[in-house]
Amino acid sequence: MSNRENWGSKIGFILAAAGSAVGLGNIWRFPYMTGKMGGAVFLVVYLGAVIVVGLPIMIAEIALGRATNKNPVGAYTAIKPKGGWKLVGFLGVLTGVMIFSFYSVVAGWSVGYFFKAITGELNNIDSAKAGEIFSTFVANGPWQVILTGFFILITALIVVMGVTKGIERMSKIMMPALFVILILLVIRSVTLPNAGIGLEFYLKPDFSKINPEVVIAAMGQAFFSLSLGMGAMMTYGSYLSKKDNIPSAGGWVALLDTSVAVLAGFMIFPALFSVGGIQPTEGPGLVFQVLPIIFSKIPLGIIVGPLFFLLLILAALTSTISLLEVPVAYLIDERKWSRKKANLVVGLLTFLFGIPCALSGKFLGLWDLIWGNLSLSIGAFFIALFVGHVWKTANALQEISQGTKEFKLARVWAFWVKYISPLIILLILLSKILSSN
Ligand code: PFF
Repeated sequence: MSNRENWGSKIGFILAAAGSAVGLGNIWRFPYMTGKMGGAVFLVVYLGAVIVVGLPIMIAEIALGRATNKNPVGAYTAIKPKGGWKLVGFLGVLTGVMIFSFYSVVAGWSVGYFFKAITGELNNIDSAKAGEIFSTFVANGPWQVILTGFFILITALIVVMGVTKGIERMSKIMMPALFVILILLVIRSVTLPNAGIGLEFYLKPDFSKINPEVVIAAMGQAFFSLSLGMGAMMTYGSYLSKKDNIPSAGGWVALLDTSVAVLAGFMIFPALFSVGGIQPTEGPGLVFQVLPIIFSKIPLGIIVGPLFFLLLILAALTSTISLLEVPVAYLIDERKWSRKKANLVVGLLTFLFGIPCALSGKFLGLWDLIWGNLSLSIGAFFIALFVGHVWKTANALQEISQGTKEFKLARVWAFWVKYISPLIILLILLSKILSSN
């Protein structure tokens, strides 16, 4: 498909795909999940999930996208026009819209907190005050809806510009900046008094806390964080050049993404236990309550605070861009809509679902669970089945071999995608259903 855009370079793809992967999932969702699910034990299961189910699916998704040059619906139909596979593609498109809707609410929180940091509202506060600021902020319904809409609008404006210009250029600048500032904040957090208690919580696993809920949460978090299960990596892979090495690109994306999540934990937990007053089980508000306290304890905090929220906004933006690009690519490719019209309609639909998420924490949590966890896990299960048994791993490996001189783990990967990945995902999903009865 010569009229389809391509990334400027392999590094362009890695940065854009890492831009999709690195976002609120790493800095907001990972720490609050870890806190809620028992600390270190969640970290261990999470790292296992990234390697065991994340990486193989990442390679499968990118290969399928590049081979078909298509959005998820188009990719399934290109290989298997008959049967229900199209529906799996649709599920991905729908999941993109739904994740985008609740994600924009939390991205809106980052915008709100950026302003709070700039105006000095977060200066020298203790944990009680931080909690109060957060609850007052989320209780302001109209403001929440405005911030959510604002974020959806900005994303749509960028996606209208097209893939390589909008997405690639932005990711190249902000990814390295985010990394640097994150490391600075980690250094401050781990040197606070009593940081050891937080480090112990984060690094010393208590395996008696493992249960189906922890495992399913960790697996869902791995898919969410790596942007897998709904065809985002498939869509990004469709813009990847045949010359590029898929396993290496996928491996880099997973490594970058996981490093940012692990660093976010090192930033949050030592600070949290050092100041006291906030529970690790706090939930979605956790990061927004702990960060201001770190900023008030560092030199130049009044500059670092706004800068951090700005980077968080940009990290969220490179993720929402990929969320929106999936339904948009579908409407352009399959329905022949213009990029403008596709953006407008999907943006409005997202806003519609974003409103209840902005107004109710309960609804936001429910949406996060259904779309951000279950739907991605179901999608990943079908991707493994499809690549393993319908498209067949031999064809996938043929695609991968273009641009990859030697994929050493080819046979392990093929076996894994065929049998191990679908089995593990299925067992974990079933364990949840069985244990809740
Ligand atoms: N990976 C993003 C994050 O961690 O913030 C969220 C996300 C983006 C999930 C794109 C799924 C997706 F397709």
